[in-house]
Amino acid sequence: MKVGIDKISFYTPQQYLDLTDLAAARNVDPNKYLIGIGQQQMSVAALDQDIVAMAANAAEAILTLEDRQNLGLVIVATESGVDQSKAAALFVQDLLQINPNIRALEIKEACYGATAALQLAHDFVQLHPQQKALVIASDIARYGLNTAGEVTQGAGAVAMLVSEQPHILALESLAFYQSKNAGDFWRPNYSQQALARGKYSEELYLQMFTQIYQRAQQKVAIDQLAALLFHIPFSKMGRKALKTLQDQIPEADYKRLLARFEQSILYGQKVGNIYTGSLYLSLISLLEHDNSLQAHDRIALFSYGSGAVGELFFGQLQPNYQAYLRPQAHQELLQQRRRLTVDEYENIFQRQLVTDGSCQEIVPPTTTTKHYLKKVDQHERFYQ
Ligand code: HMG
Repeated sequence: MKVGIDKISFYTPQQYLDLTDLAAARNVDPNKYLIGIGQQQMSVAALDQDIVAMAANAAEAILTLEDRQNLGLVIVATESGVDQSKAAALFVQDLLQINPNIRALEIKEACYGATAALQLAHDFVQLHPQQKALVIASDIARYGLNTAGEVTQGAGAVAMLVSEQPHILALESLAFYQSKNAGDFWRPNYSQQALARGKYSEELYLQMFTQIYQRAQQKVAIDQLAALLFHIPFSKMGRKALKTLQDQIPEADYKRLLARFEQSILYGQKVGNIYTGSLYLSLISLLEHDNSLQAHDRIALFSYGSGAVGELFFGQLQPNYQAYLRPQAHQELLQQRRRLTVDEYENIFQRQLVTDGSCQEIVPPTTTTKHYLKKVDQHERFYQ
């Protein structure tokens, strides 16, 4: 039985910072950000777009009434959760009017979370083929103003509907994974910002990719892969990982993988790091920009979450998968975003929700964004 991604979509907040503006404000050569880091813009989440609102906005676009009735599992993967106890999936269930007969939960392991969720969803549907599973990756990447990580921030969510006989990508059971307790990146409970040993995190990412790839190549020949996708915290990171293969694989294979890699980073370069959704944003970007891929092409996906877990897994494109994508809607979503000044971005960045139990009404979005955080009152969040 085939199980995999039946539908996929992303959402990102409707405002962004252009990284040339950030470079000017930080007195940095813009080419460091544009070429050295490989990013152009980053989406900025105001208080109304927390990870619950973004998750609901991403999933709203792909769920029919029938899907909502047939779901048996809803997982929100995030490392920017809004509650230490209650799962974001429960807010999402309510906002999207999903049937009550589901398992709803939240999952965390840095940027690996969505891959863990997708694998759980895959196994769930294998066992319960008449039901579907919804996996949503939703995150706000925050390192702080004037930090080295600032240019690698971003915000957004990716929603994936997992079903049997999927229309987009059938997932294989074959996967290669590795875990290791490491201090490359973390965020203590009391901190709004992540802490990172930047250069070490890059080294560990590359080390895990190399070790996992070495195991995988014994079972999967590189010429069988139409594309190799990466977790993209910033596009240079994926480029560096791909480059590790340049002298190891035939030139024609490297050229093919590089050409498809270029298509896979186009959305992420404008959205920024969305942590656990980043790999899946790469998948959407590839599928919505590349017109040379064909049904049955095999795609490899490398997932990396700091802390650290890495996994390389595979999927096969399905006939007529293009008909189930949303390129126009995604391009409009990006084009409609408002360009912020650096002052506006800094102001938004520093705004916080009250923590003293008082009532705070949140300024609603000026756009047509369907779901948003409306207020906090008595320490509870209320959504529209
Ligand atoms: P930095 O100190 O700005 O680094 O931090 P840099 O000074 O080395 O510059 C970066 C690159 O720009 C270098 O290229 C420079 O040569 C180049 P590289 O050596 O890397 O190839 N450069 C220029 N290029 C062109 N023209 C110029 C110019 N100037 C310099 N004029 C760093 C960069 C990524 C470390 C920082 O932004 C950071 O700490 N980011 C956060 C951590 C991170 O994203 N790590 C990635 C791996 S870990 C991961 O992916 C997991 C994660 O998503 C979290 C999770 O799992 O939840 C982060």
